[in-house]
Amino acid sequence: MDLGLQGQVAVVVGAASGIGRAIASAFAAEGARVVLADRAATVTETAAEVASLYGIQALGVVADVTDFAAMQGAATMVDEAFGGAEHLVYAAGMGSGKGGFPFWNLQPSDWPRVLEVNLQGAVHTAHAFVPGFVERQRGSWLLIASVAGQIGSQTDPPYSAAKAGMINFAQCAAKDLAPYNVRVNVLNPGMVATPLNRGVWEGQMQNLPPEQRVDFETWGAQKIAKVVPLNRWQTPEDMGDMAVFLASHRANNVTGQCVNVDGGFVMHS
Ligand SMILES: NC(=O)c1ccc[n+]([C@@H]2O[C@H](COP(=O)([O-])OP(=O)(O)OC[C@H]3O[C@@H](n4cnc5c(N)ncnc54)[C@H](O)[C@@H]3O)[C@@H](O)[C@H]2O)c1
Repeated sequence: MDLGLQGQVAVVVGAASGIGRAIASAFAAEGARVVLADRAATVTETAAEVASLYGIQALGVVADVTDFAAMQGAATMVDEAFGGAEHLVYAAGMGSGKGGFPFWNLQPSDWPRVLEVNLQGAVHTAHAFVPGFVERQRGSWLLIASVAGQIGSQTDPPYSAAKAGMINFAQCAAKDLAPYNVRVNVLNPGMVATPLNRGVWEGQMQNLPPEQRVDFETWGAQKIAKVVPLNRWQTPEDMGDMAVFLASHRANNVTGQCVNVDGGFVMHS
């Protein structure tokens, strides 16, 4: 399927690892020019690897999403390097690293950082990049939220609340931006074996007596068998495939939607 993304510019925030990195690679595989932004300094090496693997131009930008000035600086760098972006993906995220249920297993002080990175970071990124989309009257913005934001997941309450907030903000932004020919959607992954997902496992194991603790693979297999009808892990590449489709003209009439790539974890009409 021709997605028509060749030569277009895609910015992926949170691209040094996991899902964000795979999404940047998927854009590169389509011939897009990609900007990989992340707090991790390794993102510049990742950008160089993606450029050489796919034979496209890639730029690595070290920036923390909790710092609005840093995100504005990233947008300026993209303007200078490529004349602006056509596509923006917000894939930065983190959990509390602690197990919820009940929510008082966490302290109120566990909340602000999780809200700041997942939700406020998305807001910073939007304010930095969206004016360019409005000016050029085109663009797509994809937020990577989570099934946790749809189902009142007890796993990590501040994470679930932040993801629910992202979904709501995306719907609001989709309405605001529709008159400017800019589409906004949400991709909700299910279970993807990344450092973030390992953090969820670690958090849950902390709450269990030693004899009930299991390794990451066993924990993942048990949880997936219970909640994922397709009974398998989702992969970062699954997310990349959906992200490039949603960015493309093939999804020209899709906006304000939550698209789940979760093996059937959440089914909604
Ligand atoms: N892995 C899963 O099972 C799963 C499920 C549902 C949703 N998600 C979501 O997918 C997205 C990607 O997560 P992942 O699983 O690939 O995890 P990951 O830990 O591999 O990647 C997260 C990336 O975000 C970056 N990041 C964190 N804080 C940042 C900050 N302050 N500024 C800039 N960058 C920052 C990290 O450096 C990292 O590169 C997250 O939003 C996550 O909530 C993941």
